[in-house]
Amino acid sequence: MNVMVAGGAGYIGSHAVKQLIEAGHRVVAVDNLYRGHRGAVNPRAEFYQIDLAETEALADVLRRHEIECVMHFAALAYVGESVTEPLTYYRNNTAGTVSLLQAMQTAGVRRMVFSSTAATYGEPQSTPIVETMPQEPINPYGWSKWCVERVLRDYGAAEKEFSFAALRYFNVAGSAADGSLGEDHDPETHLIPVLLLAALGRREKVTVFGTDYPTPDGTCIRDYIHVEDLCAAHIRVMEALRPGDGRFYNLGIGRGYSVKEVVEAAERVTGREIPIEYGARRPGDPAVLFADASKIQGELGFAARHTEIDRIVATAWNWFEKHPDGYGK
Ligand SMILES: NC(=O)c1ccc[n+]([C@@H]2O[C@H](COP(=O)([O-])OP(=O)(O)OC[C@H]3O[C@@H](n4cnc5c(N)ncnc54)[C@H](O)[C@@H]3O)[C@@H](O)[C@H]2O)c1
Repeated sequence: MNVMVAGGAGYIGSHAVKQLIEAGHRVVAVDNLYRGHRGAVNPRAEFYQIDLAETEALADVLRRHEIECVMHFAALAYVGESVTEPLTYYRNNTAGTVSLLQAMQTAGVRRMVFSSTAATYGEPQSTPIVETMPQEPINPYGWSKWCVERVLRDYGAAEKEFSFAALRYFNVAGSAADGSLGEDHDPETHLIPVLLLAALGRREKVTVFGTDYPTPDGTCIRDYIHVEDLCAAHIRVMEALRPGDGRFYNLGIGRGYSVKEVVEAAERVTGREIPIEYGARRPGDPAVLFADASKIQGELGFAARHTEIDRIVATAWNWFEKHPDGYGK
């Protein structure tokens, strides 16, 4: 299939580009490089530096390459930043997606796989989280993605040939098994890379927020899905979409690891002691979040292959150890 990957220079998008190419698809990557890295884009993909807001330029690329599906990863994704700059998030993530959909409409492209997030559930009433549970985001980032889900439902209802899937990711982690790609965010806020940067001495210490949660060891529990499993799920979903489909799936492994368990895994994998500081809880951090991952398994036969936290951390460490400066400047 001819696929456009929007956000193809980012962490997850660059893994998707690589995996799509390896699966025999033709890939065009688009990114404004605001938070991405040109060096992360597989050389076998055509690359265009375009912003989501540039509707005409996107439509030109879609037409020129006869794109059949858009995998849409391009977004700003810092919860804290979204609280202080909500308009930036709604413009980039929500209006940006509307612009991309308009470009697709102009070019006659009728299939989208969209990166949504578990943040659209907000603080769930119970776990595991099932797709049918109420969605009440607790920050503008989550709402900006929730809005896109709403737009997709409405556009899908109006355009009968259009099909889409919104994939609600839990915590994405790990790196390509061959060590060619990794996670390089600036600033980095995700737990596993932060721990590995501390193991490398690139961070003084790591703060664990809250040790008095009602969990076995007092720290928060989260669901970590390996980036390669996540991308494999995207390809499975893309191939399954039929005109008129509107699908919503959780992407997690269906079990959680506590922050302390992840810290211990990082120490085992790196063989280094990681300096930890124990701090107070952060507002809006629920004690336990993990996915019910059975819907996508039942409908499409997808199950994550990496479920052991040490293996997930080991693939990330493989890249960090060789790339302590990430992709460089
Ligand atoms: N990493 C996670 O754990 C996680 C969890 C849930 C959802 N997600 C979603 O997955 C997607 C990818 O996340 P990531 O961790 O790879 O982030 P990332 O920041 O590494 O990648 C996003 C890419 O999109 C690009 N981009 C942003 N706005 C753009 C615009 N207006 N025009 C063109 N390009 C633009 C950035 O330059 C970047 O390369 C995001 O949509 C994010 O919300 C990620």
